[in-house]
Amino acid sequence: MKILLFGATGSAGGGVLDACLAASIVEEVRAITRRPLMHTSSKLRTFVHKDFVNYATVEEAFRGLDACLFCLGVSATQVSKEEYRKITYSYTLAAAQMFKSKSPGAAFHYISGQGTRPDSRMFWSRVKAQTEHDLMELVDADCWRPAFIDAPPSPSLPRIYKAFFPLLRVFKPFPSLYVSGSDLGRAMLQATRENLRKRIIENKEIRQIAARANF
Ligand SMILES: NC(=O)c1ccc[n+]([C@@H]2O[C@H](COP(=O)([O-])OP(=O)(O)OC[C@H]3O[C@@H](n4cnc5c(N)ncnc54)[C@H](OP(=O)(O)O)[C@@H]3O)[C@@H](O)[C@H]2O)c1
Repeated sequence: MKILLFGATGSAGGGVLDACLAASIVEEVRAITRRPLMHTSSKLRTFVHKDFVNYATVEEAFRGLDACLFCLGVSATQVSKEEYRKITYSYTLAAAQMFKSKSPGAAFHYISGQGTRPDSRMFWSRVKAQTEHDLMELVDADCWRPAFIDAPPSPSLPRIYKAFFPLLRVFKPFPSLYVSGSDLGRAMLQATRENLRKRIIENKEIRQIAARANF
């Protein structure tokens, strides 16, 4: 499989990247990032990019793909509402449009989040719900709603969360509350293989799909 990955420098995306590099079914990973990656792998090609609403200069990265794993995102506590909407909605839809035109019919996987609802009182949840809806219309996207993703924390994670991070592993026995970054990546690859499309996939099902992966 040829995979396009967004958010590879982040916590969730880093876990997904490791899963892709370890998977025998993945031949190539193209990562679009705004800073270089530390990973070295013959499977990995990095495209350092600045403008995430316009992908014209990295068009070649979108050609001939089997799947796009969209793990780019930001916490609503870290940016203004306007910026949150731009990063969550506009960046994602712009990538999906380019993806559709260069790799029509390939699978688009979007990391949304547990608690996403169009009628939510939470702003972030409504923005993610609109993003999910429009991606499902545009590219038959699978929308993944993980709870806590256990993957190495990224530099952008506030220090207080980093301290609590290991404690959150107490949720591991609970299928609805915990998923490892590696299992999230394996589940996305398995869903591509099984041709699952236009689905909302909650945490428990993410773990079930990952358990079916045998690569
Ligand atoms: N972590 C979890 O437990 C969890 C659970 C459920 C859902 N999610 C969702 O998963 C997504 C990623 O979360 P995360 O925890 O991995 O966050 P993270 O560690 O902060 O990583 C965010 C990623 O997005 C990129 N990014 C952020 N703002 C950007 C911008 N303005 N322009 C370009 N790239 C930008 C970051 O790039 P830089 O490295 O360059 O900053 C990084 O690669 C989010 O949508 C989040 O809601 C996460």
